[in-house]
Amino acid sequence: MTHDLIEQAKAILRRNDRGTYTVPTHGLYPFQWNWDSALSAIGFAHFDEDRAWTEIDTLFAHQWDDGMVPHIIFHEPDDGYFPGPDVWRTGRPVPTSGITQPPVAGFAVNRIFERARDKSLATQRARALLPQIHAWHQWFFRCRDPQGTGLVALIHPWESGRDNSVDWDAAFERVPTDGVEPFTRRDTSHANPAHRPTEDQYRRYIWLVQHFRSLGWNNAVLHDASPFQMVDPGFNAILIRSCADLADLADTLGEHDIASESRGMAKRGLEAFESLWSQPHGQYLCYDRIIDAHVDSPSIGGLLAAFAPLSRDRAAALAERIAVLAESCTYLVPSHDPKSPDFDGLRYWRGPIWLIVNVMIADGLKRGGQLAMANRIHASSLGLIEKSGFAEYYHPITAEPCGGAEFTWTAAMVIEILNTQEVAV
Ligand code: DGY
Repeated sequence: MTHDLIEQAKAILRRNDRGTYTVPTHGLYPFQWNWDSALSAIGFAHFDEDRAWTEIDTLFAHQWDDGMVPHIIFHEPDDGYFPGPDVWRTGRPVPTSGITQPPVAGFAVNRIFERARDKSLATQRARALLPQIHAWHQWFFRCRDPQGTGLVALIHPWESGRDNSVDWDAAFERVPTDGVEPFTRRDTSHANPAHRPTEDQYRRYIWLVQHFRSLGWNNAVLHDASPFQMVDPGFNAILIRSCADLADLADTLGEHDIASESRGMAKRGLEAFESLWSQPHGQYLCYDRIIDAHVDSPSIGGLLAAFAPLSRDRAAALAERIAVLAESCTYLVPSHDPKSPDFDGLRYWRGPIWLIVNVMIADGLKRGGQLAMANRIHASSLGLIEKSGFAEYYHPITAEPCGGAEFTWTAAMVIEILNTQEVAV
């Protein structure tokens, strides 16, 4: 069974491989996506290390001069996706979007390096990527934390990866829709519209894109000019973890300046991180910078927090919270609390399970001493695959496969889980 699943997963990676980058799935997402790529590289690394490095090299070949790494790289024209380069108009030689995505590359590169069978290849490739990833991390704290709080804000829900999370609902009411140019969505012709964000959300997504475009994609002003400034614990946990991992990698490679700067960013982030903890919720919450308040929404962003190098007590508390969620679903980990009135088990990030988030939460919990819960999450993940195939996401009660099929990062996570499972003692 294990061997079969790994072979099926490898075949999906190969099918979505476009030579130097992979598409998340054919049809729905025909370009290179930032965090999809870095996480997929972890899957490739188990059977083709050179190809894994190339995936991340390609991503960073399109890094902006200010350090940002865009969330989409439009390598080849394709009318099957909206919004395409004609909407973003970022003026890049190879068109890209103008916003970023969760910075998992630092974590991914360190992981691929640590496990590398070909150390000389790994040293050469990691050494080239190190300053580029570091520049991206510095960009975050410079451009998305202008007040120096230690935590960064998202200026568009697409940056979080959790596009239509309940977390953004109230804040999104404040994003206008007037002046939005007419558009035709393409996602709903590839995937069931009931699994996707709503029309109203799309109008607000596009309003933000047009707004940032009118400001020339100048990251020195975008944060303060955005009516949406959200501090997401999941996103910040990824950034903090990537800074900490990059510090370790830099030390190994003898790049001590990068190591100490990265460690400093991770430390300041971790100190500020506790401001997002909510004792009544038993998890972390988002914080809305525009209204200066936490967001009362029990989403997976506050559980993905486990990916940061937190204290063992916090890891235990998050494992406990996930155990409570498990009482109201069949599979773990739902992207929103099934008991919340806003839960929707089919609609993207308002309830469904995503394997990439499962793997990151489990990884953090394992590091925090919560091996039993980490194993439970892995078992749930594999249960979903066996029942419903390699989907983009899954209903946490029925296991219905949702969104796109034959999904690259889902396949990559299956390879990762099956190659790294540990038994609790
Ligand atoms: C989409 O188009 O659904 C993406 O999540 C935006 O990056």
